[in-house]
Amino acid sequence: MKRTLIVNYTPRENSNTKKMVDYFIERNKDKTDITILDLVEETPDLLLKENLNLVVARNFGGVELNEEQQKLLDKNDQLTNQLLETDYVVLVTPVYNYSLPATVKAWFDAVIQAGRTFTSSEKGLVGLCENTQALMLTTSGSDFTIEPLKSVNFATTLASACFRLLGIPTEAITVFGTQQYADKVEQLLEDSKDEINVLSEKWY
Ligand SMILES: Cc1cc2nc3c(=O)[nH]c(=O)nc-3n(C[C@H](O)[C@H](O)[C@H](O)COP(=O)(O)O)c2cc1C
Repeated sequence: MKRTLIVNYTPRENSNTKKMVDYFIERNKDKTDITILDLVEETPDLLLKENLNLVVARNFGGVELNEEQQKLLDKNDQLTNQLLETDYVVLVTPVYNYSLPATVKAWFDAVIQAGRTFTSSEKGLVGLCENTQALMLTTSGSDFTIEPLKSVNFATTLASACFRLLGIPTEAITVFGTQQYADKVEQLLEDSKDEINVLSEKWY
């Protein structure tokens, strides 16, 4: 059975984005082996002075770390292994301040690792997560499908650029406008289920 990793960041009570992933899970739970990474419970380590310099020394400089140093990278390394072991990734996140919430970006910062999930060649950067595919499920308060926000939709574009670096093609199912179209939210979420159905048929 193919494996699916759900990378979930939906901390708000009664989260609309969570409704999308709940439907995805309910619909597909018998067709794929699902692992849920709840970023609220298992938050990646931010890249700060100590661990960042160890990552640079190890991943770019080929330095062998001692046990104590390696311990400081263990959490993010485990997240990286988890990604390398899956066939499908579903990234579940609302839009915060035009982009990905910092916690979600921290996950990308943890798993985008030189020599493990991407490498560089004469042709440029090459993703090493071959045969993996991603889906992004996202909602936003305002409508990012039309200007003036269309050109500042950094959330789906950033996620798909990060996945591309890993060699992972991405599709996005979005409900943009949960506040702008407050009276239509339930219908918009319902409509997104049709898209989830189509994607699920394609994947599984
Ligand atoms: C901290 C924060 C920042 C937000 N920033 C934006 C934003 O930049 N653009 C937008 O359209 N909506 C923004 N929103 C609204 C959420 O994207 C929107 O309500 C979304 O549907 C929330 O998803 P949830 O119900 O899963 O929490 C923000 C909400 C929060 C809590």
